[in-house]
Amino acid sequence: MNTLAQKKLLVGVTGGIAAYKSPDLVRRLRERGAEVRVVMTAAAREFITPLTLQAVSGQPVRTDLFDPAAEAAMGHIELARWADAIVVAPATADFIARLAHGRADDLLSTVCLATRTRLLVAPAMNQQMWAAAATQANVEVLRQRGVRVLGPDTGAQACGEVGPGRLPAPDELAAAIAAQFTAPRFAGVRVVVTAGPTREPVDPVRYITNRSSGKMGYAVAEAFAGAGAEVTLVSGPAQLPAPAGVALVKVETAEEMAAAVRAAIDGAQVFVGAAAVADYRPAEVAGQKIKKTAETMTLALTRTPDILASVAMRTPRPFVVGFAAETERIVENARTKLERKNLDMIAANDVSLPGLGFDSEENALRVIWKTGEANLPAARKHELARGLVELIGDRYFENRVENS
Ligand code: PMT
Repeated sequence: MNTLAQKKLLVGVTGGIAAYKSPDLVRRLRERGAEVRVVMTAAAREFITPLTLQAVSGQPVRTDLFDPAAEAAMGHIELARWADAIVVAPATADFIARLAHGRADDLLSTVCLATRTRLLVAPAMNQQMWAAAATQANVEVLRQRGVRVLGPDTGAQACGEVGPGRLPAPDELAAAIAAQFTAPRFAGVRVVVTAGPTREPVDPVRYITNRSSGKMGYAVAEAFAGAGAEVTLVSGPAQLPAPAGVALVKVETAEEMAAAVRAAIDGAQVFVGAAAVADYRPAEVAGQKIKKTAETMTLALTRTPDILASVAMRTPRPFVVGFAAETERIVENARTKLERKNLDMIAANDVSLPGLGFDSEENALRVIWKTGEANLPAARKHELARGLVELIGDRYFENRVENS
């Protein structure tokens, strides 16, 4: 069990039904050795009482920004400085929005704004509220600022709906919080990730491309950065911001992506090819816009470089992970690619399923390596990417031990 001995944790409780789990979370954090203080919002007090949290934390609970007695003991600025981490659990959609917009209209939001310590939020809300574009944009803003987002879990909700938005179980949450204080698994490891589509020009105004949004590859890059890796993300045209702490190299064509990977790969220990690289490009790029003349026209295409296979052919070579976008015989086709391209691991996705794969928020992966395989069931791409990075870590560090 990861310890939290001598860690000072400020637990923020906001007003959602999942607040009933907060006392249990406080109890489990203390079991791991943490000193815990609690700040509640006004809405949180509609769900549980400060007395309950005072009893489990062993400390007075703070609720008001303008409380002369409490400010005399430990003012909000001292509280912000005191904490080794601030954990908001549950974090409602409203609190996440206020945090993303830098509001300081109650004690908890003020402390979050006044701190330089690590900030963790565990969202919990109705699944439609979680899926809402505004909430997702706010969560993205927080991630970009380095806030760690824990969860949410998917499952039956208090409102009777089923979906993502549940607060993780208190023991899991306590373990995830404790993990923030252990040395990150990929510290000192250099990782190169490709993402997004490529654009292969036909003439000055037309190109061949595909439906990749880049979300999967960006999520993988972000998950590696979160695990302490030094990450270079080589991305085709995607409308996504660079993940925090990741060096982003933007390219257009498969040739440019191959060149950018060649420039970044020396000294890298892990390579992940999540990009949907065009297999063919027009053999000739017309200098002028092609005019409409005959009823039909034929475009001659030529093969692009296979970036993944060429990285796997290098000596010394990094640990190489490919993706396989398949619409039939998923595992069989992915295994063939694993062997043909000499990969260490391949993440196969069935891109014929609605709502998964290309240009969607969620995906599901069947991860295959030479001696085993694992299923990562349908989940948001950020969550899935963290699972994939864990699996890569298991194999990568095992190989390193074997080869040392
Ligand atoms: O970007 P999103 O909208 O989030 O969608 C995610 C995704 C579906 C694009 C992603 O999960 C995925 O499957 N990426 C790989 C898509 C693909 O091109 O698969 P493939 O089976 O054609 O290629 C196999 C592997 O070879 C891939 O790792 C690919 O990056 C690599 N490749 C392919 C061709 C080429 N010329 N060079 C390569 O490196």
